[in-house]
Amino acid sequence: MPIKSPVFRSAAKDDKNGHPSGDPRFKLIDRTLKRFQFEQDALIEVLHTAQESFGYLDEDLLIYVAHQLKLPLSWVYGVATFYHFFSLEPMGEHSCNVCLGTACYVKGGANIVAALQAEYGIEPGETTEDGKFSIATARCVGSCGLAPVVVIDGEVTGKIGAEAVLNQVRESLAKPSPQRVAA
Ligand code: FES
Repeated sequence: MPIKSPVFRSAAKDDKNGHPSGDPRFKLIDRTLKRFQFEQDALIEVLHTAQESFGYLDEDLLIYVAHQLKLPLSWVYGVATFYHFFSLEPMGEHSCNVCLGTACYVKGGANIVAALQAEYGIEPGETTEDGKFSIATARCVGSCGLAPVVVIDGEVTGKIGAEAVLNQVRESLAKPSPQRVAA
């Protein structure tokens, strides 16, 4: 997601009274900010709370967090894009996150991504037009011994080939979205 400008769209305040939109989800972020006393070291923790509250980190959220922690927006954006567990775009109802860390890459991770791209016509980081499916990639999901690893709707599967991934994704798409099941 390109950061267009460092202008806070929602007119942040200089005090610590929270987001001017009044959206109650910002209160959860504010609670984390206060718990860590607005320490800049708490950036990842605050971004986690922001993503859990909103589902993904949009530009307004990144600007808000940067503003509250008095960090450069470029720094916050860099951290949010570095870690695979942060998403800057809304995800589809179902998702397949393909690990492209070294172990997974050499064992065929890129082939899995290519197969998904060919099947669904979207790039990593994108969602199908109907909002049903997203492809994501990760740097390493910590299960290198199972390479290549994919995470389909939150479930980690390893030692899997492109065709088997496509089959699993088709099965997932036939089921209700995990978010709806959890709701
Ligand atoms: S490189 Fe894929 S899990 Fe570590």
